[in-house]
Amino acid sequence: MTTRGATGGARPAPYPAEGLPERVTVYEVGPRDGLQNEPVVVPVEVKAEFVARLAAAGHTVIETTSFVHPRWVPQLADAAELLAAVERVPGVRYPVLVPNARGLERALELGVTEIAVFASATETFAAKNLNRTLDSQFEMFEPVVARALEHGLKVRAYVSMCFGDPWEGPTPIDQVVEVGRRLLDLGCFELSLGDTVGVGTPGHVAALIGAFGGPERLAVHFHDTYGQALANTLAALRAGVTVVDASTGGIGGCPYAESATGNLATEDLVWMLHGLGVETGLDLGALVETSTWLAGRLGRPSPSRVVQALSKALSKAPSEAPSEAPSEAPSEAPPKE
Ligand code: HMG
Ligand code: MG
Repeated sequence: MTTRGATGGARPAPYPAEGLPERVTVYEVGPRDGLQNEPVVVPVEVKAEFVARLAAAGHTVIETTSFVHPRWVPQLADAAELLAAVERVPGVRYPVLVPNARGLERALELGVTEIAVFASATETFAAKNLNRTLDSQFEMFEPVVARALEHGLKVRAYVSMCFGDPWEGPTPIDQVVEVGRRLLDLGCFELSLGDTVGVGTPGHVAALIGAFGGPERLAVHFHDTYGQALANTLAALRAGVTVVDASTGGIGGCPYAESATGNLATEDLVWMLHGLGVETGLDLGALVETSTWLAGRLGRPSPSRVVQALSKALSKAPSEAPSEAPSEAPSEAPPKE
């Protein structure tokens, strides 16, 4: 069910449910995970505008780019130029992906204050994505995390292929927990559980979080390849997770993971969260407007269902500005069920 605001824009009717957090931090990965998998290299000015629009829409954390080998991900080879072009908004974090010592060196030179390292839970993906074995990937991360912490940086960690891997099948839960614990023990403040190829299902999500002993320091990162990302997110929220990765417009994917498609779309996530009465601090209208603008730059429509629905509704009502249309939830929410 939807309601329509003063501007005529659609928004979900808020029906809060028991057992969910009051507020969720959306960790926005569009400029990094989104743009790293685009067939075209997006001009640096467009990237900078994308990041600025995301901050203006209320994002407090925007993973901006990667300091990986530029030959491995040419789409993000302009990381240094982009960081120089991004105007920092107070209160907004701008983490970057860093795989190794060379990447950290480049990030430190530019005054980065938060990084994310990324490990694999499987042998095959460690080889394909990092040119390392499951074990030797840690020889690469350990000095990076130690040096970053010495410099006072915040360090997040990802584990990829937490649910399954296109080459090895379902990933054993113990294997994921072992890799994740090693990263947390290095001093990473947060561990994002990546479903890189989108094969997880809600029971699997609950089991994995349970195997970590609960949601403390965990975030989730779902790709929507099999249409499970929202259901999996709800399972993670019910298990107590309060940080959810998403990409505005639903763009994204890892070029080294066969069959990886877009991330959970931020707009689809926000529609569900606002419908559940969970605060995000995000302006859905501004996000939809941003994705529609970006789709024009990428030359293809956004895969987000909410963007498709709202941009269609808005194009039928040209007098209604998209940024106002899906205005925030009505002030009177029904009581919790
Ligand atoms: P390698 O070939 O083993 O590198 O690649 P190396 O250490 O042997 O170094 C070879 C040369 O590359 C050296 O130069 C280095 O200096 C240079 P030379 O001495 O020969 O002239 N080099 C670099 N140059 C610039 N920046 C660097 C860098 N590192 C080395 N950082 C490496 C190892 C890790 C670099 C490579 O495998 C790589 O860049 N991989 C990144 C792949 C990637 O970015 N994948 C996508 C992100 S992960 C993802 O999307 C999943 C996630 O979203 C979560 C999920 O969905 O599950 C996070
Ligand atoms: Mg990803």
